[in-house]
Amino acid sequence: MARPQPLVAGNWKMNGMLADLAEIEAVRDAVDAGGGGGAEVLICPPATLIVAAAKLVQGSRLKIGGQTCRSEISGAHTGDVSAAMLKDAGATYVILGHSERRASYGETNAAVRARAISALDLGMSAIICVGETKAEREAGRATSIVGRQLLGSVPAHPDPSRLVIAYEPVWAIGTGLTPTNADVAAMHRFIRGEIERLVPAGGSDVRLLYGGSVRPRNAAELMAIADVDGGLIGGASLDVDDFMAIAGVYREDVKAAASA
Ligand code: PGA
Repeated sequence: MARPQPLVAGNWKMNGMLADLAEIEAVRDAVDAGGGGGAEVLICPPATLIVAAAKLVQGSRLKIGGQTCRSEISGAHTGDVSAAMLKDAGATYVILGHSERRASYGETNAAVRARAISALDLGMSAIICVGETKAEREAGRATSIVGRQLLGSVPAHPDPSRLVIAYEPVWAIGTGLTPTNADVAAMHRFIRGEIERLVPAGGSDVRLLYGGSVRPRNAAELMAIADVDGGLIGGASLDVDDFMAIAGVYREDVKAAASA
């Protein structure tokens, strides 16, 4: 069965000044020259850069997204941005429920679901992040935690082509540590089963990303795992060469499939 187009998404987190728009131009040019040929490529810069970044990628295959949003369209919510504002600024994706936001701001599964609904209703794509802590994994609770996060944060009846789930073990983010390939495979198989149950119409088409210390050296083996439909890349997305090397993994896939 044909798999959906993989997605390689860069999460710049709280990094990026106006001068760093040059990095977005470099990624744009690399993508449009065929880099990451088999994958959809996305960069989620800080909110301050979205308008300018979106202008730079007009007519390009590179997409721009936000890193969070609120569910309300507007109102008295000092410091927050809405999905409508992200869309107005030119973003087509938004990351929701990243573990750094769940930890720093107590974002609940219900809040993540409401935010996902607001983004999906506006025609945007939502990347919902889930993942266990080290203590939860060591206690044998990784799948039950991820299962609860999925149950609480995935909206009912989403357009499967615009819903993305990112499995990011909290202990793997920014640490250089990754789960074994067998653990990634087992968790993605579990997530696929849950998503097919939660999204009966098209759950097999929802893209499942792996995130947490994806680097050029481990990208090919992680991305080759069944039910891994791409990656959410933090630190390595700040380096154009590293990011394009990771996205380029799919180029090889396309070639391999074409010559098979
Ligand atoms: P990392 O971050 O690639 O730096 O581990 C991933 C993420 O937090 O999305």
